[in-house]
This record gives sequence, structure tokens and C-alpha cells, in this order.
Amino acid sequence: MQLRSLESAPAARRVFVRADLNVPLQDDEVRDDTRIRASLRTIRHLTAQGSAVVVGSHLGRPRGQVQEGLGLAPVARRLSELLGAPVRFAPGLPTGEGACEQWKLLGRGEVLLLDNLRFDPRETDDDPDFAQELAQFGDIFVEDAFGVVHRAHASTHAICDLLPSYAGFLVQREVAALDHLAEVGESPFVLVLGGAKITDKIGVIERLASHAQEVLVGGALANTFLQARGVPIGRSLSESGGLDVARGLMRQFSDRFRLPTDVVVSHAMTEPGRTAAVDEVQSDEMILDIGPATRKAYRAAILPARRLFWNGPMGLYEQAPFAEGTLDVAKSVAECEGYTVIGGGDSAAAVAAAGVDDRVSYVSTGGGASLEYLEGRRLPGLACLVAK
Ligand code: 3PG
Repeated sequence: MQLRSLESAPAARRVFVRADLNVPLQDDEVRDDTRIRASLRTIRHLTAQGSAVVVGSHLGRPRGQVQEGLGLAPVARRLSELLGAPVRFAPGLPTGEGACEQWKLLGRGEVLLLDNLRFDPRETDDDPDFAQELAQFGDIFVEDAFGVVHRAHASTHAICDLLPSYAGFLVQREVAALDHLAEVGESPFVLVLGGAKITDKIGVIERLASHAQEVLVGGALANTFLQARGVPIGRSLSESGGLDVARGLMRQFSDRFRLPTDVVVSHAMTEPGRTAAVDEVQSDEMILDIGPATRKAYRAAILPARRLFWNGPMGLYEQAPFAEGTLDVAKSVAECEGYTVIGGGDSAAAVAAAGVDDRVSYVSTGGGASLEYLEGRRLPGLACLVAK
């Protein structure tokens, strides 16, 4: 996909940048700054050329109200540390009086971070008046929030009608990586899919599975497929509304779909598990990870891949006793010499936890956005940046 790039933009005096600084916080501190780091290149490029840069982002889903714990003050502090320069910030409404005061004081080459855009209900409504308030902060708009390009929100969509709009470096890199994955014709192409909901993944399975050689399934997603096959899954998490879809997908791709043959089960998420064959799960047990035989089989399928896309954990990887399957997949993906792309969210966290994030070809900052992009959907935040 050819986008109007930041490099092609005129050097503007004032720039409004949409970034995805939706990062995990703990005790008012940033716990993982990956997304802030990923935004630095664009911000630095703009400040170096002497623009006054206003950055907007969401954090969580505050549903249109100023909410304690979802303010961007900790992000402003971390951004300032990483830039090695002060970052102006005003808590509260992102286009409120405080933000406008700070904006008036903003000099060339300086950065102002607005507070959570979703504190204003008009953001998620794609409201043109709110977009107009944001547009007053810039002469041009730079979209660098890949994680939300699948959302038609005021700061990702409506604003494009008001300012000349360009793709920042992160958005360009993400699109190039995903295009490369889908376009490079090399085989085997392996899809590794986990996570909870089948309905989130139908599109990507339908689109990519048709030219994949292997589709390796784990996590609660696998439970839904197992249940659809009539295998008893005890009290495991599954999506009952997705059983027909699962049956259809397994019929369509029966030659390449792989489900776990053994699993780690437990009576409670806090109790250590036991390994069981997949047809031996008791009615009071939950499947919480893939088992050792499945890990071995998945590894054997992953290593020879020439292209690989992974989205979603293989089990309840946040709890140590059930993290093995996900960490094992992360290590196998790191050892694969093909082009490997991790589709954001939990799988990105897993490759970081396994210490192998620098050994995969690309880690996307957007989970939902990368899935929708690979599905070939028209994404509102990108459609308005397409070079004519
Ligand atoms: C993400 O974390 O995937 C992005 O920041 C998008 O967040 P959202 O799903 O709340 O729009």
C-alpha cells in the first residue's frame, strides 16, 4: 500500500501527530514503553526540523470521561526522558483550557502531549467539531498510531478532512512489514494463532489460511475448535457462539489445520497443572496451555517456515505454570530463519518475556489493526493517507 509519507510533507511550523501511546501503567509509572519508543523517530524528525509538535493519544477505554488512572501524565514523563527534552502536558480534557494554554507557550522544536483523547466522548464518535479542535494544533497532520488505524475516530479519521495528512515512520514501517508478509510468495507459510476469540480471527484465517501450508492453533481459540470437533473440554474457556464458524474453517482447511494433541489442565488457574491427552480432559478441569508433544510438533512446523505470522498466546501465559507453551513458540519463532511477524499485544509481550524480540523480523505495535490489515479490510485511518 502506497501512503503519503512524512518525508514528502512540507516542513511545517506546527504539526499534530496522532501516536498510539496506549501503554500499560503500574503505580502511576509506565510498565512497558515499547509503544513510546516506537513513536520517537517521527517526533524527533519533526522537532529536528523545527516544528512545534503536538502529540495526541488514547490510553485504555475511559468512555468519554476524565478518569483517574487513565491520564497520560506518566507517559509524558517517560516520553520526556526518552527524548531527553521537556514535554509540555496539561491534565484533563485534551482540547481544554489547560492544553490550549500550553499550546500557546509551545516553541519551535518543542513537544506538547495532550491528555487522553478518549476523555472527550467526541473522539470515538469521529466528531468533526472535535477533529476541528485538534486540527487547530497543526498545519499538517501526521498519523503514526498504527494500533488505531482500524478505528474511525476523530483523531484518526475526521481530522484527515481538515489538514494535509501524512503517514509517520511507524505507520510506514508497519504497513511495509505486513505487505512483505502477505506479498512474499515463499513457502512454507505458517500461521500461528492463539488468544481467546475466534470471531476476532475469522477474517484473517480465511484470507491467510488459503495460502498457508500450516495453521497452528492454541490458546482458548483451540478450545473452540476442539469443542466444535466434539472433544470434551471440561470447564475450559471457549466461544460457544463460534462453533459453526470453527466447523466451517476446519472443513475448508482440513489439510493444514493443527490442533493440540495434548494440553496442560488444572482445576483452578492458581493450581499447578497436569499434562493430559486432548481427549482426556475431565469435566471439572480447564485447558490452560498446550502440552509438550504439541509444543514439539508446533516447533517442527515453525522452524522450516519461510514466512510466519503469529498472533495470540498458546495459553494462560501470564501465570508461570501455564506460560511454557507460549514461551516455547516464541523461542521457536526466534530460531526460524524465515520472515517472521508478530501481530502485537500478548504475542509481542511473549517474545519480549522470552528475551527474543530482537530475533524476529518484525513485531507489530498493533494487534487488532495488524489482523484487520492482513484481512485486506479497508482501514479508515489508512484509507485517508493513500497516495493518489
Ligand atoms: C491497542 O492497544 O490495540 C490499541 O491501542 C487500540 O486500542 P483500542 O482497541 O482500545 O482501540
